Amino acid sequence: MSSYDVIIIGSGPGGYVCAIRCAQLGLKVACVEGRETLGGTCLNVGCIPSKALLHASHMLHEAEHNFAEMGLKGKSPSVDWKQMQAYKASTIETNTKGIEFLFKKNKVDWLKGWGSIPEPGKVKVGDEVHEAKHIVIASGSEAASLPGVEVDEQVVVTSTGALELGKVPKKMVVIGAGVIGLELGSVYSRLGSEVTVVEFLDHITPGMDPEVQKTFQRMLKKQGLEFIMGAAVQKTESTKTKAKVHYKLRKDESEHVLDTDVVLVATGRKPYVEGLGIDKLDMVMTDRGQIQVNDHWATSVKDVYAIGDVIEGPMLAHKAEDEGMAVAEVIAGQHGHVNYGVIPGVIYTHPEVANVGETEATLKEAGRAYKVGKFSFMGNARAKANFAGDGFVKILADKETDRILGAHIIGPAAGDLIHEICVAMEFGASAQDLAMTCHAHPTYSEAVREAALACGDGPIHM
Ligand code: FAD
Ligand code: NAI
Repeated sequence: MSSYDVIIIGSGPGGYVCAIRCAQLGLKVACVEGRETLGGTCLNVGCIPSKALLHASHMLHEAEHNFAEMGLKGKSPSVDWKQMQAYKASTIETNTKGIEFLFKKNKVDWLKGWGSIPEPGKVKVGDEVHEAKHIVIASGSEAASLPGVEVDEQVVVTSTGALELGKVPKKMVVIGAGVIGLELGSVYSRLGSEVTVVEFLDHITPGMDPEVQKTFQRMLKKQGLEFIMGAAVQKTESTKTKAKVHYKLRKDESEHVLDTDVVLVATGRKPYVEGLGIDKLDMVMTDRGQIQVNDHWATSVKDVYAIGDVIEGPMLAHKAEDEGMAVAEVIAGQHGHVNYGVIPGVIYTHPEVANVGETEATLKEAGRAYKVGKFSFMGNARAKANFAGDGFVKILADKETDRILGAHIIGPAAGDLIHEICVAMEFGASAQDLAMTCHAHPTYSEAVREAALACGDGPIHM
């Protein structure tokens, strides 16, 4: 039996970051992982492989649509799916091996196998029981199921199956116009599939700024994705190579069927707690099946903590990472902190979509007076030159104090641009602070400055 200060269950962005931080703070630490490789959902079947396919398919799209106009002539590339899968696999491998290297460097023990907590202070992996002064559960999440839809990961797939289809399908039906559906739907649409997205609500990407939702859906339609909105999927029927998707339109209850080669079910994810043995510990759960924690990520069981997708909050890798660092600091007797008001969200389609902080809806609901500064990428020289003028930056600031409360961007490099606004928000900056900061020309970031100017006396280039 080995003894540790901390044992973490799960090596995703929450778990591995927590392990490294614990080690940096002088704690003896081990991380339990049941997969063959470290890195969790994110590195193995989530963020990283999806971004590799988004990148490759975006390159193809650029070659097909914009090269000729820039004077780049010649045959546009064709898709070698096997090679694209190999590129994706090597990207995963580089990243997962990177975590293995970091574990060795920081003297984090990887306990290989599935872990459970037979009693507080003990973690069982295989036949071995290890002692731990503190246990951190970072077991992540899995795709939620949909009644009437049986996933076989060949024809009816979750994101995991969608990342490794045998070939690019002729037709794909995506159930759910959320982040996964639109990212992976974009990939296959660019690679040549006819993609139809079936969404229960009347708008895409729930919770996002309505103006961004509308602009985003218009752009995706222009790229070839079809949308069936306000549609409740009833069931799917599948053979080894084909599927039918039965849905009912909510407005008139009419019933319809779509024939397709592949169905991607992307209707959300749920916490993964199987096999941990937490039922025997009487751990308090939320009514959504998450492990309930307090402000210091402590569960109801003494010295057992939980972080990442398995607790409440946005299911995002960087949120899990921040909690991993913070809980390590709490365990080490420091003051770990996560500012949940400033967690950016990014959709890595083309263009990218990014947001942080409040939306107009949340501000209205709270009865707060705010002003809006908006700037279109059409007024940004760099964006125009790069065929990226569609989209905008929108900054929401307090009407009285001018303090930045939130931002919504759809356009080129939105996922990077959002971070200057995050930093500004962390420092309690006003829109004017951002507007007075010199931004290099010509960069996309000038659109952020112009939106900040629009919160005051007005933008220059619009
Ligand atoms: P996970 O990454 O899920 O890791 C949990 C790990 O714990 C797993 O490896 C699992 O095997 C292991 N485990 C579970 N139980 C046990 C046990 N009993 N014993 C041992 N090991 C166990 N987020 C972003 O921020 N950006 C993105 O671009 C993005 N893209 C995504 C794309 C897809 C297709 C998907 C599915 C998700 C994406 N996400 C993205 C979400 C992101 O992957 C998750 O929010 C993140 O991985 C959560 O981290 P985590 O550490 O909580 O859990
Ligand atoms: P999601 O919650 O983003 O979207 C699910 C969508 O499915 C919603 O629009 C919902 O209205 C719709 N829906 C639900 N039931 C339906 C039904 N019966 N019929 C039709 N539509 C239905 O969930 P998604 O896309 O599965 O992603 C899961 C999680 O993974 C998200 O929380 C997200 O944070 C994370 N993720 C993050 C990424 C990123 O940061 N870029 C990329 C991919 C995933």
